[in-house]
Amino acid sequence: MSFEINNICCIGAGYVGGPTMSVIADKCPNLTINVVDINQQRIDQWNQSDLSQLPIYEPGLKEIVSKCRNKNLYFSIDIEKHIKSADMIFISVNTPTKVKGIGAGQASDLKWIEASAREIAKFAEGKTIVIEKSTLPVKTAAIINKILQESNTEINNSDREFFVLSNPEFLAEGTAINDLNQPDRVLIGGDNQEAIDALKNLYLNWVDENKILTSNIWSSELSKLIANAFLAQRISSINSISALCEATGADIKDVSLAVGMDSRIGNKFLESGPGFGGSCFKKDILNLVYICKHHGLDEVASYWQKVIDMNFWQQKRLSEIIISSLFGTISEKKIAILGFAFKANTNDTRESPAIKICRDLLEEGGNLQIYDPRVSKEMINHELQKQDENIKNNNDYKKLWKYCESVQQATYGVDAVLILTEWEEFKNIKWQKLSKSMRSPKWLFDTRSITDIEEAKSAGINTWRLGNSEAI
Ligand code: NAD
Ligand code: UGA
Repeated sequence: MSFEINNICCIGAGYVGGPTMSVIADKCPNLTINVVDINQQRIDQWNQSDLSQLPIYEPGLKEIVSKCRNKNLYFSIDIEKHIKSADMIFISVNTPTKVKGIGAGQASDLKWIEASAREIAKFAEGKTIVIEKSTLPVKTAAIINKILQESNTEINNSDREFFVLSNPEFLAEGTAINDLNQPDRVLIGGDNQEAIDALKNLYLNWVDENKILTSNIWSSELSKLIANAFLAQRISSINSISALCEATGADIKDVSLAVGMDSRIGNKFLESGPGFGGSCFKKDILNLVYICKHHGLDEVASYWQKVIDMNFWQQKRLSEIIISSLFGTISEKKIAILGFAFKANTNDTRESPAIKICRDLLEEGGNLQIYDPRVSKEMINHELQKQDENIKNNNDYKKLWKYCESVQQATYGVDAVLILTEWEEFKNIKWQKLSKSMRSPKWLFDTRSITDIEEAKSAGINTWRLGNSEAI
C-alpha cells in the first residue's frame, strides 16, 4: 500500500505548529498545508497582513509566512473541513502538566490530545496518517489509536484507515527556523512501513537521509522526553556549580570552558544562568518522573526530580542574593528588570525564571521597572498574577511594577539593574552613560554573564556576576 500525500492538516497553530508547517510549506510547494486551531484570535493573528503582528516572534518566520501564506499555507478555524481533506494530520497541541486530579503536578494533561483524536475520528475520510508532533508520555499512541480504530468500528466505515506515527519536534525557540531547516535529526516512530516512508519522503525534500531515524513508536515517544531531560540536566549541573564557584573563588565561565572542551562532554548547554524556563523542560521532566513512579522506579524518579529542584533553588538563591546585597531590604528601592522572556529571540514567557524572581522581589516590596524587547505589558501582568494568590490579592502590587519601553526608561532612577534574559541589546549597554541616571549606591546583577562588568565597575556600579566569586 502506498500513500499519496497532497493535503496536510496541522491541529494546533502554536509555537510548534506555526513554524513547523511554515517550513514544510516552504520546502514542499506542491503540498497544501492547513493549520487549524480552536483559538480564533490566534488564527486571526496568523492571518494579519501586518507580519510584525504574528502571534509568535521567531527570527526568519515572517519571511516564510509572507512567501507561502495563502499560496500553499493557510491558517483557519475550520477544523472539520481541513481534517476531511487531509491525507496526513499532525497533532501539535499543548500538553501541559495536569493541574488537578490523578497525577496533578506531574502527569501531562492529555485532554487536548484526546480532543484532537476525537475530531479526527469524527471527520477524517479515506486513508489518513496521524502524526504525534506534540511531546507525549510514552504509550500515548495507543490511546490515539484506540479512539481512531473504535470510531471506525462504530460507524462501520471500511473505507477509512488510520496509521499513527510519532514524529517529535526538537526545535528550540529563538532558533526554530534554523532548527527546522537543518535539523540534527528527524525521528519517526511507527509500525507501518508505508506510512513511515510517506512521512520520510516529505522530510527528504530538504533533510539528508542519514539524519532521518526510524524506530518503534514507543522509542520515538520516549526519546523526545529523554532528550529534553538530558538538556535540562546539563543546565542544572552547571547552575549547581555556579554556586560552588561563587563560594570558592573559581569562575563558572572558566570552568565551563575547561569542562566543555573535553570532546566527550562538549561545549553546548553549559551556560549558567537564572535557571531553565520555557514551556517544556519542567513539564517533560515532571512527566518523566511520573512515568518512572508509575512503573515503580522510585530511584529513577527522584534522580530526575533533582534536576527540577536544582532549577527552582537557583531562582530562589538569586532573589536572596539580590535582597541581601541591597542591605536586606528592597522596599522603597527601584530595580530595573532587563528581560522577561525565558531566553533571547522569543516573545515566549512560559516558565520564564523572570516570573519567580520578579514575584519574590515584589513580595519584598521592591519597585520593578521591567523591560523586554519582545514581551508585552499584558503578558508580563498575566504571568505575574497567574496562580499566585498572594500577588492577585495584593492591590498594591500593580503599583509596584511598571512596564518600560526601553533600557533607558527601565534604568532611570533605579538602585539596581538585574539582567535576566540574554538579549543582544543588553550586551552593548554603555554603563558609563547609564550609571548617571541611577541612584547611589548602584548595583548590577548579571545572571547571564553577558555584560561588560569591568566597564560597569569603572562607572561606579557595584557588580555581581553569576558564578563569579568577586563579592559585591
Ligand atoms: P502552544 O500552546 O503554543 O500551541 C498549541 C495550540 O494548540 C494552541 O494554539 C491551542 O489553542 C491549540 N489547540 C489545543 N487543542 C486544540 C484542538 N482540540 N483543536 C485545535 N487546536 C487546539 O503549544 P506549543 O508550544 O506549540 O507546543 C505544542 C506541543 O509541542 C507540546 O506538546 C510541546 O511540548 C511540544 N513542543 C514544543 C516546543 C516549543 O518550543 N514550544 C518544542 C518542541 C515540542
Ligand atoms: C528546548 C530544547 O532545546 C528543544 O530541543 C526542545 O524541542 C524544546 O525545549 C521543547 O521540547 O520545547 P527551548 O525550551 O525552546 O528548547 O529553548 P532552549 O534553548 O533549550 O532553552 C531552554 C532554557 O534553558 C532557557 O531558559 C535557556 O535560557 C536555558 N539555558 C539554555 C541555559 O540556562 N543555559 C544553556 O546553556 C542553555
